[in-house]
Amino acid sequence: MLVTGGAGFIGSVTTLALLEAGHDVIVADDLSNSSKHAIDRVESLARESGAAGDLEFHELDARDDAALHDLFASGHITSVIHFAGLKAVGESVDKPLDYYRVNLGSTVSLVTAMRDHGVRDLVFSSSATVYGPEAQSPLREDAALSTSSPYGRTKLFIEQMLRDVAAAEPGWNIALLRYFNPIGAHPSGLIGEDPRGIPNNLMPYIMQVAVGRRDELVVFGDDYDTADGTCVRDYIHVLDLADGHVAALHAIDRFHGCQAVNLGTGTGHSVLEVLAAATAAVGKPLPFRLGARRPGDIAVTVADPSRAAALLGWSATRTLNDMCTDAWRWQSTNPFGYGD
Ligand code: NAD
Ligand code: WQD
Repeated sequence: MLVTGGAGFIGSVTTLALLEAGHDVIVADDLSNSSKHAIDRVESLARESGAAGDLEFHELDARDDAALHDLFASGHITSVIHFAGLKAVGESVDKPLDYYRVNLGSTVSLVTAMRDHGVRDLVFSSSATVYGPEAQSPLREDAALSTSSPYGRTKLFIEQMLRDVAAAEPGWNIALLRYFNPIGAHPSGLIGEDPRGIPNNLMPYIMQVAVGRRDELVVFGDDYDTADGTCVRDYIHVLDLADGHVAALHAIDRFHGCQAVNLGTGTGHSVLEVLAAATAAVGKPLPFRLGARRPGDIAVTVADPSRAAALLGWSATRTLNDMCTDAWRWQSTNPFGYGD
């Protein structure tokens, strides 16, 4: 099978899970936001665990039609997971064209190559960001969709594009997996999240405070209508998310066209709860201060995960403490990530 973006945070952990489940995996990644070391580590972890699948890596841009054609022409690809893309909400406001070019462009090229080579099974990385502020948590897949950033719009447009593709021709099985807040790392401490520059997301920021790369966490707003006043999110261990992809792939025949499925735990945690759990995992106080709200943040975003349980036979099992313990193992042993 083909995994685009398989060197990234979620892609690397998922590639390992696929190899362990016995799949042969071809990773296509241009390394624009990741490191080749991640692939090398996936390969050695797979070998150590006696994984049955084989890994092949291609450094390529997922918009390169000719390169995609050559990959599919090998005849070994029967299904695809498409992680490749740009993902920083704030950056997408400043550089919308980059987001439209990469996220939409890669999906058009990829799905065209799939169609041309008779491959019809696709798992796509969508996001809880497609649920509008008016939608009420716990969010079901049929909640109102709308989004406020160019990044979010690329996900909404791609979802619609894939629905159109599936409607135009029978035989497609497309899973739109809407991730909530993936955090944590592989329990080995060898593969994890390695953001470039200042982290946008809460857990990598906390972890960089913990290793001394940042002075303090700023908690964005403590006057929301929640129990402690800080925003509540549905954090999910990246290993649970990876298992969710394997489950989606194994259940792909049940999709009959194009369907959306939430990948979340169904449980919300506030920013201060995450900070407390991370502090316990790290074992020392982490400096923080309360600051202003971040524009665009919604008070509560939590999944209704029942569809994933029914359709995929999958549900998340790991706790917030597991997520913090594994994130800390990764960050403390790799304070500067993959180091390149
Ligand atoms: P990531 O940046 O770590 O991984 C994305 C990978 O895609 C990187 O390895 C990058 O080098 C590669 N890539 C980017 N443009 C490419 C191109 N044109 N051709 C080939 N490879 C390219 O991000 P991630 O957190 O692992 O996210 C994976 C997917 O999940 C993304 O589509 C993202 O939008 C989506 N998602 C992520 C989150 C999250 O919080 N991390 C939440 C919801 C959805
Ligand atoms: C979580 C909470 C912040 C940083 C984003 C994307 C979403 C999806 C997941 C891709 C919020 C607070 C954060 C900090 C803080 N990604 N926070 N101080 O915003 O729920 O979702 O990532 O699809 O599309 O929008 O995640 O980790 O940025 O924030 O207080 O320095 O932590 O205000 O309440 P978010 P996050």
